[in-house]
Amino acid sequence: MGAVIIGCGKALPNLEVANDDLQALVDTNDEWISSRTGISTRHIAVDESGLALAARAAAAALGMDGSNDPTDSTCGWTTSPIEPSSIDLVLFATVTPDIVVPSCAAVVKRMLGLDHAVAMDLNAACTGFIYGLSVAESMLAAANGAAGAAGRNPLKRALVIGCDRLSRVTDWGDRNTCVLFGDGAGAAVVEWNESAPGIMASYLRNDDDEKNALTCANYIEAPQPFSAEGIDQAARATDPSLRFTDEALGIHEAVEAGGMRQVIRMDGRSIFKFASNAMTHAVEEVLRRTGCSLDDIDCVIPHQANARIIKFAAKKLGLDMDTFQLSIANTGNTSSASVPMALADAYVSGRVQPGDKVILVAFGGGLTSGAILYEA
Ligand code: ACO
Repeated sequence: MGAVIIGCGKALPNLEVANDDLQALVDTNDEWISSRTGISTRHIAVDESGLALAARAAAAALGMDGSNDPTDSTCGWTTSPIEPSSIDLVLFATVTPDIVVPSCAAVVKRMLGLDHAVAMDLNAACTGFIYGLSVAESMLAAANGAAGAAGRNPLKRALVIGCDRLSRVTDWGDRNTCVLFGDGAGAAVVEWNESAPGIMASYLRNDDDEKNALTCANYIEAPQPFSAEGIDQAARATDPSLRFTDEALGIHEAVEAGGMRQVIRMDGRSIFKFASNAMTHAVEEVLRRTGCSLDDIDCVIPHQANARIIKFAAKKLGLDMDTFQLSIANTGNTSSASVPMALADAYVSGRVQPGDKVILVAFGGGLTSGAILYEA
């Protein structure tokens, strides 16, 4: 018995921005970007919210929308169309929520008429979808296990969404980061099944980001009319509360010097090193927890941050690159959306077949990392 993936989908915004287009913004070129990252184009949402993208991806995962062509901007795969009212739980992983109350998950639930679901958001940076799927699996297992079912919400099906519009938190004048990111959404439906193994193991981890190698401050607009002594209307102008975040994140000097506050700052080389090791370690851990070996694995669906990181991990694991789903060329790094969009590509293209053993693996800010091993 286990949590089985019965649907998945993805949605990309219409505007496609090629590497050469970015030369209008920063000193870069197609040769540098494609050879260092494997990225050719990314999609940017200019007239569409993250919520709209997420709703499109979720509808495709439910079989309500989208084509079965992985090159289309909205596509999906399902074993059979899924009744919206059969969804009991919605988890929405994002680092760029359009809204905080209600949660993005609650808004998508309303948009799609998922009448019986409970809904919440989750932030684990680029590992968000893997954390979300693992939480959903744990809740399904608890609700359907002999010991835990009593006293819990009945739970058979969960919708897990990963959605990000990184273009909103990108410094488009910084060539070290802006060439890497894009927007998108992906989703999957998991169902508790008494007679199929489904998710066999998950591994979640959070290493401390002691050097602030990857940060993005949250800039809440409302200024506080308080100082340490009490109400102080003059304090409104500067909102001193933000300073503490800037100091904690190590971005104080950059902001003081006029740099933008709510943008991704990244030490690319440290993240590259962390990522390659974290991916390898997470794959080894889920193998160990299931007793499977690499020979049993039909497909690895990794976070699409840099094709070179994937190649490095493949080499370290001794796995052929053909085992990996590579979707980065047309998307760039879309954070929480990256793994579920690559998952949709793998299913829609027919790459993943029933009975296949698949590993999902990711890393990101936090420093989070994790993997899931399941049987399709
Ligand atoms: N175009 C042209 N040249 C560039 C560009 C660019 N866009 N960006 C940097 N360069 C230059 C640098 O200035 C440097 O020049 P120099 O040697 O004269 O100083 C040179 O290229 C090499 O720079 P490096 O930083 O050493 O390049 P590297 O090979 O490490 O690649 C990259 C940089 C792509 C950022 C890589 O380090 C990487 O992928 N890191 C991991 C990023 C990641 O995975 N992030 C995931 C988390 S993101 C998130 O969570 C949202």
